[in-house]
Parts: sequence; structure tokens; C-alpha cells
Amino acid sequence: MNVQEAVHRKRAVRQFADRPLADDDLAAILEAGRRAHSAKNRQRWSFILVRDRERLAQLATLGPWCGHVAGAAAAVALVTPDPRLPGAALSITWDLGGAAAQMMLVAWERGVGSCPATVYEAERARELLGYPDDQHCEFMLSFGYPADPDELTRPNREGGRRPTEELVHLEAW
Ligand SMILES: Cc1cc2nc3c(=O)[nH]c(=O)nc-3n(C[C@H](O)[C@H](O)[C@H](O)COP(=O)(O)O)c2cc1C
Repeated sequence: MNVQEAVHRKRAVRQFADRPLADDDLAAILEAGRRAHSAKNRQRWSFILVRDRERLAQLATLGPWCGHVAGAAAAVALVTPDPRLPGAALSITWDLGGAAAQMMLVAWERGVGSCPATVYEAERARELLGYPDDQHCEFMLSFGYPADPDELTRPNREGGRRPTEELVHLEAW
């Protein structure tokens, strides 16, 4: 497996097998996030690992499209300093996106499916996960072995990505 193939073939997985993640798979996923690059190497992120089935079910209610978290073997809540506070750097979210992408790619390479979930209910997220007031969770990631392994590499939908000529500008817009 190489990076280019992973980037090209990986798909979001939302249906998971009912079995826990192997310790080495989980460790590799968390390490991929820990190892991510960040502006000035500030690493302004914390990852809350959730495996308790009841807690996963609660996390699945934090937004209208969070349902897949309920069936995941594990969720990682992505916590950063609140990027909406005055003066907060945009690089907080840039950095977090990179860390999340690395976690999902390493998961995929190991046969683990994943999908982001957007948190709409920030205060309930804080109550459930207990992070401090100056921290914020906008996104979670579901991880688990796919219910159908073919889902990891299901063919891209027709029109599933914008064509290169539409988004790449040569020399200037
Ligand atoms: C910032 C972000 C938030 C997302 N939030 C959700 C979500 O709340 N629920 C969900 O099912 N998928 C969510 N997704 C997954 C996208 O729907 C998915 O990446 C996109 O449809 C492409 O899927 P594909 O790689 O399988 O083609 C999110 C993705 C990103 C990058």
C-alpha cells in the first residue's frame, strides 16, 4: 500500500462490524494523529478515545449526522482550543484537519473504516466528555472494522469529486 493509492481509494465507512479494535490498530491510529504536522509545531489538540458502548450511543446524538458513531468500535473526539474565540488562529483547524486525515488514512491501511461526525451540540459534548471551558470539540471520528470490507474501497460515485480542471487554476485564478 502506498500513500497515493490510499488517498485515491479510501472511502468513508459508516457501518461497522460488532467487534472491538485490536490494540495495535488503535495505537497506530492515535500515533498517526500524534505525529501530524502543525503550525509552529504547536500541536494544539487532544484526542478523547471513547469505546464504552453507552457513551458512543450518547455521542451519536450530538448532531444530525452523528448516527454512525453509535455503531463504531471507537470514537475519537477531536478537542482544540476554541477556534471561535477572538484572536484564535485559523491554523488550529488546519492542523486538526491534518491530524484527522492521517488517523483515517492509517486506519484505512490497516483495514479499519472511519468517518468524521460534526458536533452541533457543543455544550452537551462538553458535559459528556468533560473537557475544560477553554477547549472545544467540533468534530469526532468513528473507527471500526467495516460491516462490509468492500466499503473501504467502494468505487467513487460518478461526480464524487470535482474535476481537476474545475478546481486547479494555472498561474492565477
Ligand atoms: C469536516 C467534515 C465533517 C463531516 N461530518 C460528517 C458527519 O457529521 N456525518 C457523516 O456521516 N459524515 C461526515 N463527514 C464525511 C463526509 O460526508 C465524507 O468525507 C464525504 O462525503 C466524502 O466521502 P468519501 O470519501 O467516501 O467519498 C464529514 C467530513 C468532513 C471532512
